[in-house]
Amino acid sequence: MNRKALNPPGEATTLVSSGAGGSSSQSPDAEIEFVNVEKYFLRDGRLVETLRDLNLAVPRGQFVCLIGPSGCGKSTLLNMTAGLFEPTAGSVRFQGSPVALPNTKVGYITQQDNLLPWRTTARNVELALRIKKMPKAQRRRRAQDIIDLVGLSGFEDAYPSELSGGMRKRVTLARTLVYEPDVLLADEPFGALDAQLKLLLARELLTIWERTRQTMVFVTHDISEAIALADRVIVFSRRPATVKLDCPVDLPRPRDLFSIRSERRYGELYEKLWLALADDIEAGEAV
Ligand SMILES: Nc1ncnc2c1ncn2[C@@H]1O[C@H](COP(=O)(O)OP(=O)(O)O)[C@@H](O)[C@H]1O
Ligand SMILES: [Mg+2]
Repeated sequence: MNRKALNPPGEATTLVSSGAGGSSSQSPDAEIEFVNVEKYFLRDGRLVETLRDLNLAVPRGQFVCLIGPSGCGKSTLLNMTAGLFEPTAGSVRFQGSPVALPNTKVGYITQQDNLLPWRTTARNVELALRIKKMPKAQRRRRAQDIIDLVGLSGFEDAYPSELSGGMRKRVTLARTLVYEPDVLLADEPFGALDAQLKLLLARELLTIWERTRQTMVFVTHDISEAIALADRVIVFSRRPATVKLDCPVDLPRPRDLFSIRSERRYGELYEKLWLALADDIEAGEAV
């Protein structure tokens, strides 16, 4: 399979600043960059300030997890990276240029799987390739490779209604990976699943990512999941979201997600992240 091998995680440089006077300079090795971004929404006739003075750069090939109180603006940040919303002020840059509206170079995995119920696993996975007009034999082969990769061999002809929740997540992942986006955005993709299944899918996602090394921005409310997966965890304050903590995860790879929790360093990181998150959760708005 012709998967893209991107650069290894970007030399762990911390490219973030927050607060007044944040730099407006651009980072040459950043795949995604938020420069002095503000985002307001109009709701019931009043302005809702969601992101304030946000400066954040994600180097190519880095796996970044975002955590923060519910309603702080994490999905908004992903939506802007996907070119679905424009910032109210500041700029969102992608591969060195202002983000395209929409940004077709990202794959976006949301909490809802959005599979087409009348298409089988194989046909759901092939859809993006069909839209790209890839010849039939080639797209069948390519879809099969990805279906095997996500552990769904034997379920090519099943319809979404015949699949378990975990399997539907695998189809969603396959459908996103198949067109080889430069960047993957994931918004609490395993949030609704039970703990064991979540761990299993996270482990498989990590195995795939360790082969592809695509830039990844992954939102989760689960600190354990964030530490287990990421090169770097960003903790946001409550709305309007600013970066509260930018924490490199210095655990070696490849990681064994089943044993990582017993490591001393894991415990230290967990405590640090929990402390950064906790007071904003307590003071957060009703959800
Ligand atoms: N399209 C929208 N229109 C109006 N308000 C929005 C829209 N999208 C998000 N918001 C508001 O922005 C804030 C942040 O939302 P969101 O990014 O979904 O938070 P999170 O993903 O961190 O839970 C919330 O107050 C939400 O109601
Ligand atoms: Mg959200």
